[in-house]
Amino acid sequence: MPRVLVVKRLPRVPMDRLGEAAEIDLYDGDGDMPRAELLERVGDADALVSLVTTRVDAELLDSAPRLKVVANVAVGYDNIDLEAASSRGVVVTNTPDVLTNAVADFTLGLILTLVRRIAEGDRLVRAGRWTGWALDFMLGHDLRGKRLGIVGRGRIGHAVAERAAAFGMEVVFASARGRQGPDTLTLDQLLASSDVVSLHVPLAPETRHLIGQRELARMKRTAVLVNTSRGPVVDEAALVWALEEHRIGGAALDVYEREPEVTAALLGFENVVLAPHLGSATVETRTAMADLAVRNVIAVLSGAAPLTPV
Ligand code: GLV
Repeated sequence: MPRVLVVKRLPRVPMDRLGEAAEIDLYDGDGDMPRAELLERVGDADALVSLVTTRVDAELLDSAPRLKVVANVAVGYDNIDLEAASSRGVVVTNTPDVLTNAVADFTLGLILTLVRRIAEGDRLVRAGRWTGWALDFMLGHDLRGKRLGIVGRGRIGHAVAERAAAFGMEVVFASARGRQGPDTLTLDQLLASSDVVSLHVPLAPETRHLIGQRELARMKRTAVLVNTSRGPVVDEAALVWALEEHRIGGAALDVYEREPEVTAALLGFENVVLAPHLGSATVETRTAMADLAVRNVIAVLSGAAPLTPV
């Protein structure tokens, strides 16, 4: 039987499915598998089931001479050196589609949390500082009639657009590749005209620090930035500057430049919502992601084409 290294216990259904097709070497410890142990245990693996926190680089691939497939349990694959994998004939797969709705739901959740001050209100109540209903107390803003600028024309961006339309928002797009069309603006046009800017691009060399000081300065002073994509798409130091200088109205983040570290200055702003990378974190979606990764492994190990190669 082929051997599959699994860096974290998966839900039962995919785990059982994998167990029928391969011998599983499971890391069942707390937290991430230590790097040295990963490099050693991948040595006789035919397949690797990896997570966003697993760095799959040339060093790891060189430690894994039998490896045929890396199945990442994520839609993003910036943790994997694709060139190093393809030059060694290793197939890389990700988990698109199955998490689109969960991430889009979460994005709308962050927008509402920020714009309607839900987390801020929760902090106030818990601190015992609520003195009662008042006509002008903790006012947020309506979403209806506001413009949502979606950066990225992929599946998640479109799913966010669908939901935002139901809230009465006007939606415009900018594509990271600079494509234009009737509802697709340049990034600068989008930044200058949107009330909410939401990022839905993969992390790649051309999207690293896509949103920096120059871009933040172009936003309306009342506009808010939402990031559920990857932390390094936003220059966090520039974001702190924009918040300190009141150049933007707030931010809601699910991802950070150096997870799980969060730039300390961000903690001090009431108009910032901070989530711990939960975009796809539902029971149903994480199960579907793990199952898709497992089915990719089984396909490649049995000589078939992967279901969702990157
Ligand atoms: C999670 O962050 C993913 O890319 O699926």
